[in-house]
Amino acid sequence: MVVNIDDDFNFLVRKISKSSGIILTGYRDTYLRRRIDLRMKIVGADNYATYSGLLEKNRSEMKEVINSLTVNVTEFMRDKTPFMFFREEILPDIMERKKKSRSNIVRFWSAACSYGEEPYSIGICSKEVLPEDWSVSIYATDIDEKCLKGASRGIYSKEQLKNMDPSITRKYFEPAGEDFKVRSIQKLLIRFQRHDLTSEPPISKHFDAVFCRNVMIYFNENQKIKMLNDFYNSLSDGGYLIVGKSETLPVEIRELFTPVSVKEKVFKKV
Ligand SMILES: C[S@@+](CC[C@H](N)C(=O)[O-])C[C@H]1O[C@@H](n2cnc3c(N)ncnc32)[C@H](O)[C@@H]1O
Repeated sequence: MVVNIDDDFNFLVRKISKSSGIILTGYRDTYLRRRIDLRMKIVGADNYATYSGLLEKNRSEMKEVINSLTVNVTEFMRDKTPFMFFREEILPDIMERKKKSRSNIVRFWSAACSYGEEPYSIGICSKEVLPEDWSVSIYATDIDEKCLKGASRGIYSKEQLKNMDPSITRKYFEPAGEDFKVRSIQKLLIRFQRHDLTSEPPISKHFDAVFCRNVMIYFNENQKIKMLNDFYNSLSDGGYLIVGKSETLPVEIRELFTPVSVKEKVFKKV
């Protein structure tokens, strides 16, 4: 009998996709193989068919493999300089534009927000820069419900707050036992919501900026193009797109966004 590894792999991916509800066809093949191979090594399965059979019987391994596909690593003010750029360049520009249109409402989308460090960072920077009476609303979305649950609790360890100036930590967090809790989450107007970037329509609001950092690396070219088109439609004219430090925009959509800072991976809707 001829064994077709690709068929077995595709069957396995479909099985994981069905169980998780994550449309894995948009993810890079090499990424999926790397993650699945790692799980197989851990449980001692030496081919995709065996691992498929194992997933059938073992629900906890199914959870493990799904978890391993959604890498949740994140940080407050991740990479620091893009958030400095946000404070020093992007927010003042948004403020000027809003003043011209006599508006004081600013909207952001943190797409693939993980445990909330990114949307809270956006909120804190905005509160620091924008006038007191301005309203800031942040949509924070992720495919992973456990992240969203953690994010809406808003509790972080001292280690997780290490990138932040102590005065900022004191201002925006209150002690919660050994940890720190975001002071009045409501005041920061962050809405946490499940959203799958591969299969759901964009959240259509006139966003002033969309942060989508460190998730595009897992997607294949078609999925990237679909997602960036969605962001284009979600942004207001001249709105900003901020992607991860190691991410690049596919050539196909480069006419939709113009670079503002190549170093910080900041683009503007054309
Ligand atoms: C590495 S974290 C990035 C978090 C944050 N943006 C940052 O840069 O620190 C990647 C996040 O993407 C989420 N994710 C993966 N696939 C997704 C999808 N199809 N739709 C929405 N979020 C997804 C994961 O659940 C994870 O929380």
